[in-house]
Amino acid sequence: MVNIFDDVARDAAVSLGVPAASGSALIQALSVDGFAVLADHGVDTSIVEAAHQEAEKFFALPMSEKLACDIRRSVSHRGYVPVDEAGSYADEGIRRYEAYDIGLDLAPDHPAVASRTPLMGPNVWPVDGSLRIVAQRCFDSLQMAADGLLEMVASSVGIDVAALAKLRQQPLSQMRFLKYHEAATPTNDAAMGAHTDYEFLTLIYQWGGGLEVKNRAGAWMPVEAPNGSLILLAGDLLEVATGGQVRSSLHRIGAATASRFSTVFFAGADYHSVIRPMLHPATETVIDLREDRQPEQAESTAGLVRESVAAGPHLLSQLRRDFPYLRARYPVEILHDEHHQNTDHKTAASPNAIIDPANVWRSSFERRHFDDA
Ligand SMILES: [Fe+2]
Repeated sequence: MVNIFDDVARDAAVSLGVPAASGSALIQALSVDGFAVLADHGVDTSIVEAAHQEAEKFFALPMSEKLACDIRRSVSHRGYVPVDEAGSYADEGIRRYEAYDIGLDLAPDHPAVASRTPLMGPNVWPVDGSLRIVAQRCFDSLQMAADGLLEMVASSVGIDVAALAKLRQQPLSQMRFLKYHEAATPTNDAAMGAHTDYEFLTLIYQWGGGLEVKNRAGAWMPVEAPNGSLILLAGDLLEVATGGQVRSSLHRIGAATASRFSTVFFAGADYHSVIRPMLHPATETVIDLREDRQPEQAESTAGLVRESVAAGPHLLSQLRRDFPYLRARYPVEILHDEHHQNTDHKTAASPNAIIDPANVWRSSFERRHFDDA
């Protein structure tokens, strides 16, 4: 490992120039600090910068034009997220960010879309095609980097990367442009409430500060990333796949945040994939302890958390917390009805959208720290 930045935590700064050494360096950073700051990541940052410029132009448009891409009218959860589409976070006060969400672009006649699998379908774009061109290029670049990083992390902890790839053939990966606005009056509320991300890995390219990660010692640490670097966070699925060896990174955007922009890529799994501990063959038989465990009882004597999570329902359940319109589209009573066959998927759950809100998987960091975040 080569430490190249003087102004970030020593263990969190990772050069990816030496792949064999980089996997363990990433594991070390994610395990201790909860994040890694990456150089030599292989992403052409001019592509990320170009997408940023076009996204800024979009966010500067009149609201009526932005709402032409309203995510609330998308069948696949894509497009513009206005400030008033606020999630449910105790530590987040007045919502002051807007977003634009992009995912794996699937045609309406794709089998997963035709069968109304939640969150899968076409992207949504403004009539002016400039954002589409650069954003799609940015998505492809960050996806390639995230996939490589996931493979690096997985092989470093002994996960069979071929088995992992089978869980990610058409993954629910997502890219978000996030534009934060300065608070109108001083506030102690977080600009984005504390949470873990719902996929395997998260990559962040940021303009402006404010990102904070809770480290293994329980302290909130500011994440400073030099221009051109990428920030890596661990997600919920990686925590499950590693049996808790790598914990999902609890993070937030702090109260003092002025204006900020970030481009964020979430590397997910296929909707129907079930993620289980994958560290060694003995973990193939999973004991799901979610039913009646106390949080600390989920730890085996080897320190592994033997539990599984269904990737799609987990993502959907967490997005319901973030998006009021998804709570309306997939209401609790429908989620409990496995045989619901309503064909209007703009207003009702598809038969694939079966989750149990009373038994939502929560990362270990969330279990331990969310209440005092
Ligand atoms: Fe996040």
